Amino acid sequence: MRAVGVIPQKRQVGILSHTAPRITSPKHVKVRTIEVGICGTDREICNFDYGTPPSGSDYLVLGHEALGEVVDVGPEVSDFRPGDLVVPTVRRPCPHHGCPSCQEDRQDFCVTGDFTERGIKMTHGFMTEFFVEEQKHLNAVSKELRDVAVLVEPLTVAEKAIAQVWQVQSRLPWVNGSTQRGHGKTAVVLGAGPVGILGAMALIVNGFKTYVYSRSAKPNPKAALVDSIGANYISSDTVPVDEFAKQVGNIDLVYEALGSARIAFDVLKVLGLNGIFVFTGIPGHKPAIPVEADLLMRQMVLKNQIAVGTVNADRPAFENAIRDLAIFKKRWPQALQAVITGRYPLDAYRDLLLGKAAGIKNVITL
Ligand code: BGC
Ligand code: ZN
Repeated sequence: MRAVGVIPQKRQVGILSHTAPRITSPKHVKVRTIEVGICGTDREICNFDYGTPPSGSDYLVLGHEALGEVVDVGPEVSDFRPGDLVVPTVRRPCPHHGCPSCQEDRQDFCVTGDFTERGIKMTHGFMTEFFVEEQKHLNAVSKELRDVAVLVEPLTVAEKAIAQVWQVQSRLPWVNGSTQRGHGKTAVVLGAGPVGILGAMALIVNGFKTYVYSRSAKPNPKAALVDSIGANYISSDTVPVDEFAKQVGNIDLVYEALGSARIAFDVLKVLGLNGIFVFTGIPGHKPAIPVEADLLMRQMVLKNQIAVGTVNADRPAFENAIRDLAIFKKRWPQALQAVITGRYPLDAYRDLLLGKAAGIKNVITL
């Protein structure tokens, strides 16, 4: 099969010939890849800053944001049939029986660090024609979502974050009786990439008054998209943090989707009373920057604030993402489509992975 992968030892990115996978266990499902999204993690792997091939392989097949169609199932597969659409999760458990998280299918909280991730860490990814996976790592998607289901994985970042927010904030009487748990609260999304925009949609659906604070000055296509869903786009290039805070009022929640620290820590300074700040970005290695640490500490204590980092997503986050994507599609059909800025053939991989980042979400169609 043709696959896009990296050979870290040779610092090469290219189309590789990869053996077609076979069903070797009764609970295996064979899937034909339909689409694979490209994200910052893939670009970092192609920079050789991140990513590890499986042991015994000199290459790693990329791709962790996939939509596929079931083509064959093992004898003990009860949940899927050929023709079904599926989205795989990313992380696979570590082999240690002493890891309570992996033993309970919560490998997103693995304690040993020996988990693997498809297309990222020691397991091949989905940027190829077929893959085989255990049924418990696959999520069913309805045919109505076929054109947007490649966005499920990036949306799981927000879904896991929001699940964490409810848990962490249960430390205080935070949510009111409303069916929308974010009703009456203000959320700020940092960054207007796919993770930020999908996060803003999820926060709005949960009832938060939502602002997106991102670099580019208005007007620009991302700002237009954000405003069209009823969030409020404000440019950090034209509105400094203090002024932004005055416009927004008490900030109950910050959802960081920038992947760099400077603006994030500036906004941490204006987080509101009892506020929660969720970091989701993974910055590259960079020189140190000054931070007003005493001020931050003073505020965090006097305002009961909390900062939490979150990585990877469990199965419920995928299920919630699939549910919410259907809601987004009804509520904002055009905006949701506009998150996917381009669909390209496999051969276009070089520009997408190594060229200048452009658009919002770029997708490879197989
Ligand atoms: C993926 C996560 C993964 C993380 C770190 C992200 O791009 O969405 O599933 O855990 O990278 O490897
Ligand atoms: Zn990703």
